Amino acid sequence: MSKIITIAQQKGGSGKTTIAAHLAAGFISQGISTTIFDIDPQASLSTWFRVREEKSPELNSLLSCIAIDGNALESEIAKCDDKIIIIDSPPHIQNDARYAIRAADLVIIPVQPSPTDLWATRATVEICGQENVDFKIALNRVTVNSKIGLAIRKVFENSMPNNILKNQLGNRVNFASTMLDGQTALEQSYTSASGEADAMVEEVLEILNRKKLKKAA
Ligand SMILES: Nc1ncnc2c1ncn2[C@@H]1O[C@H](COP(=O)(O)OP(=O)(O)OP(=O)(O)O)[C@@H](O)[C@H]1O
Ligand SMILES: [Mg+2]
Repeated sequence: MSKIITIAQQKGGSGKTTIAAHLAAGFISQGISTTIFDIDPQASLSTWFRVREEKSPELNSLLSCIAIDGNALESEIAKCDDKIIIIDSPPHIQNDARYAIRAADLVIIPVQPSPTDLWATRATVEICGQENVDFKIALNRVTVNSKIGLAIRKVFENSMPNNILKNQLGNRVNFASTMLDGQTALEQSYTSASGEADAMVEEVLEILNRKKLKKAA
């Protein structure tokens, strides 16, 4: 049975797809078979995967990607026997995003350090509460040592200290540029971006390893 991570955030452009790809690359680099379900009609993550298949198919021995409607999730999840499933969900909390949250063992909510991103996060957090699913905030695109980055982290540390990842991603070109070639920062030589992604992968894996499977609980 797979452990399921859903990446959700109603705010568009918060980094859902970027984080989904980097988590997937980190997991497979550790020999953990992973399937991505792309339920976003924009199909960004499945397009990334297609480019990857074209340019470096050897990278995909442990990775699969399926673009599906959110309402097909349950049956597709039942068929999957990879260790981890990552669901990349669309912006705006419609039914599809709710199905994806409901199915998850862990929801990752990317948040950029801005007031509007902070305020938009509440809707996703509320759905996690309604669906009784554990979630973690992942700060993304943080300008190193910026006041706003520290301030937004503090808001979450004060209001939900158990729900914010210690590791965050900076605002770094490598997170975007590597994806253009169907790769991630983790699959190129060491950079600040790969160091940050690696640390986030480790933290998420630790959380996941401590978790009982939802369906087994
Ligand atoms: N840490 C980062 N550093 C630099 N650029 C980033 C970072 N994270 C994301 N981006 C860029 O920000 C833009 C939005 O990221 P992404 O597509 O991952 O967000 P999203 O939440 O999936 O968007 P959508 O809501 O439209 O699905 C992209 O151009 C991506 O390359
Ligand atoms: Mg996306």
